[in-house]
Amino acid sequence: MAGLSPTYPLQTERLDLRPHRHGDVDDMLAFHSLPEVVRYTPWPVRDRKQTEEALEARLNAGRLTEPGQWLILAIELRETGTVIGEVLLKWASDVNRSGEIGYALHPGYQGKGLASEAARAMLRIGFEELGLHRITAVVDDRNTASWQLLERIGMRREAHHLEASWFKDEWANDYTYALLRSEWLNGRSEPAASDLG
Ligand SMILES: CC(C)(COP(=O)(O)OP(=O)(O)OC[C@H]1O[C@@H](n2cnc3c(N)ncnc32)[C@H](O)[C@@H]1OP(=O)(O)O)[C@@H](O)C(=O)NCCC(=O)NCCS
Repeated sequence: MAGLSPTYPLQTERLDLRPHRHGDVDDMLAFHSLPEVVRYTPWPVRDRKQTEEALEARLNAGRLTEPGQWLILAIELRETGTVIGEVLLKWASDVNRSGEIGYALHPGYQGKGLASEAARAMLRIGFEELGLHRITAVVDDRNTASWQLLERIGMRREAHHLEASWFKDEWANDYTYALLRSEWLNGRSEPAASDLG
């Protein structure tokens, strides 16, 4: 696998997905500072300084050159130019051609299918541009909105690991979801009619 260096923005129906820029800090702070957003993410509630540091770490996360790296893209609502969240794709292994996805969205923009739209774009570039064979997602079993998103985009629940993670001062149960390239190509990830609102 040769890595991934997409041409930006990646466009979906309503979104432009692109690497972060210095000017994104206010939009990022608007959701990185919210307890309900970070409840099940690996990061804590962030103040402005911590958000600036997080942004700094994202500035060069727009391409994948070796396994172990995360592609981290700002989710920009095309209509307003606001950064409303972020979406991630990890190139986990070259030998296994495996990857992982992640996402977070400002609560003011949830409930509209926007996170699913961004996550599908990550599956597309993961399978069709990077050349992955299998993409997974790991989610706390209490994070209903997240595992429902994964099912909405066609991923299958493969495992339920009990007390598998020491997470934010307690043991957490994780679901592992996965999708194979063959399933993606067979259209498993097409939105169901019932998802179209
Ligand atoms: C996980 C998260 C991104 C899900 O966001 P979301 O907006 O619920 O997800 P989707 O984009 O799939 O939107 C689905 C909702 O939009 C509705 N919807 C409206 N129009 C839609 C459309 N065109 N397509 C799909 N869904 C649509 C669906 O009915 C659904 O609503 P419901 O939850 O009331 O049933 C969000 O809860 C979040 O950011 N959480 C905090 C961060 C986090 O936990 N990240 C994951 C760590 S593993």
